[in-house]
Parts: sequence; C-alpha cells; structure tokens
Amino acid sequence: NDLAAFVRGLPKAELHLHLEGTLEPELKFRLAARNGIELAETTVEQVRQTYDFHDLTSFLQVYYPAMRVLRHAPDFHDLAYDYLTRAHANGVRHVEMFFDPQAHTSRGVPFDTVVSGYRSAIVRARREFGISAELILCFLRDHSAEFAMATLMEALPYRDWIIGVGLDSDERGNPPSKFAAVFERARGAGFLLTMHCDIDQQDSIEHIRQALEEIGVDRIDHGTNIVEDERLVAVAKEKGIGFTTCPVSNSFVTDQMKSTEILDLLDRGLTVTVNSDDPAYFGAYVGENYLRLAEHAHLDRARLIALAENSFRASWLTPARLDGYL
Ligand code: HPA
Ligand code: ZN
Repeated sequence: NDLAAFVRGLPKAELHLHLEGTLEPELKFRLAARNGIELAETTVEQVRQTYDFHDLTSFLQVYYPAMRVLRHAPDFHDLAYDYLTRAHANGVRHVEMFFDPQAHTSRGVPFDTVVSGYRSAIVRARREFGISAELILCFLRDHSAEFAMATLMEALPYRDWIIGVGLDSDERGNPPSKFAAVFERARGAGFLLTMHCDIDQQDSIEHIRQALEEIGVDRIDHGTNIVEDERLVAVAKEKGIGFTTCPVSNSFVTDQMKSTEILDLLDRGLTVTVNSDDPAYFGAYVGENYLRLAEHAHLDRARLIALAENSFRASWLTPARLDGYL
C-alpha cells in the first residue's frame, strides 16, 4: 500500500542489525547441505516453529545453536550478501552491522574466516548496488572479560574493516563495567563504542548509567528504559547519544513494541532510530519495523521522516558522507 511504498522510499541507515540474526531458514538448509551438517528440522515451517520466543534468554537459546551451519568464508559471505540485498530493497543506503566472532571462534572457526567472508560481501554489495556497510564487532557479555580482550587483540590487524565494538548476548549479571578495560583498550585502538542495554533487564537503569558515564559509549543499542531516569535522559541528550531501538524485536522479548518510550524520546529531541535487530528470527526487516511502529502508534509521515533522518545522524558516517544524506 501507500505507506509501505513511502517507507521503502525513505533513505535509511540501519544501525542495529546482527548478521547472525539474518539467517533465514532457507539459507540455513542450503548451508547445512553444503557443509554436510544434519539438522533436526526438515522443513522451513518446522524451523519457523522454533522461532517462538518470550524473552531474551529463550531467543538466545535458539539463536546461538543455529550458527553451527556457518563454517567457511563463503558461508559468511552468503549470509551478509543476502541481508544486504534485502536491506537495499528496504531503502537502506548505509548499514552498520554487528557480528559475534566469539560464537564462531569458540567452535573452531578462525577469526579471519568470519571477517573475510563478511568483508567480501560488503565489497560486492557496494559494487553491485551501491549500499555502504561497516562491521561492528560484538563481545559476548556472558563470557569472560579475558575472552573479550583476547578477541579484541585478534581484531586489531582488521581495524580498517571494523568500525566499532559492541556488547550483546545475555545481560543478566553481565553489566557494562565488567568490560570497562576492554572498551578502554578498544577506544585507544580507534574503535567507536556501542553497547546493548536490553529492554526491561534487571538493573537496566544502572547499566545505561555505566554505559554513558563509566564507559563513555558513542551510542546505545535499545536503551529505551532510560525514560525512567530524567537525569540520564538529560545526559544522553547533552552528549548527542543515538539510540538504536527495535520495535518488532521488543515485542518478542517483552510483550510490547515500546512505542510510547520510543516516541517520548523522539519528541524530547533524542536521536532515536528504528532497526530490525534479528530480522530472520523476528520476521521483520527494517521497513516492516517502521510500518509496524507507524500503525501501532499512529505515526504521521513527518515522524517517519524524522526517524529516518535520525538513522543517519546516529550513524558513524564521516561528516562529508553525512552531508549527502541530510
Ligand atoms: N540483545 C542481546 N543479544 C542479542 C540481541 C539483542 O538484541 N540480538 C542478538 N543478540
Ligand atoms: Zn541486538
């Protein structure tokens, strides 16, 4: 319909997207066959039936085991290339994509295999349809700070291919402060910093405070619980922090899109953006996230334009490239 075409036509950046969360059941079967891996499911419908989550933990329990079909560089290439093709069809011009190297190196897949595979897809998609893409290395927060630091050391030779670092996986009992030294070292090496502060987690506000005031992040992923703390909202606004919200993902891991919080922050002048998180698992690419939010919260076109413009403002594009979009 009309609104769908309008949203598709809006130039957008996507800033909260996990490459491993773009594994569609069809590709999962193709990679399993190519690599001689047996799957418990035999049809796409059976795989979709396992995509039934009620919180972050139940999502992660399906998400990580599925990654075992990714073994060789062409597998990582195909995953990223398929996503970039879909993003382009959604009107995405620029994307900053998370990946979880530890979910692969811990299974014996070399770091270089993962990054080289993803990088080849970025170069190809840029050449074929002009989309620009960057990689953000996410540390798994339910693993040790030592493992994260060792992973950062492995990433240093690839600094030109990786724009920043983030923090994902199970937040319970794994606060930002656990990784203070890792993020400090990453900043020193020239990486930009972001972190998940997932929705309605235990100690959400304290985690947001640590990310902003102790780590000094450049951006926050999710983070809409900040509305509960006026002082922190003011700090985030003052620092110009971008928030990468994910309405459809929110509706899986809590039971709401958190549209009230998203709009509250937008209307108070914070740099709020809309993203898909793990689109293959939550069944919605970025355009669908704008649409579902628009329907649910009765957004007018001006608000949708503001959200799309924010996606560039919150991006890590250089000022010269940013100029072309705003
Ligand atoms: N939160 C934490 N870990 C994740 C997410 C998320 O939104 N997506 C993929 N891994
Ligand atoms: Zn995420």
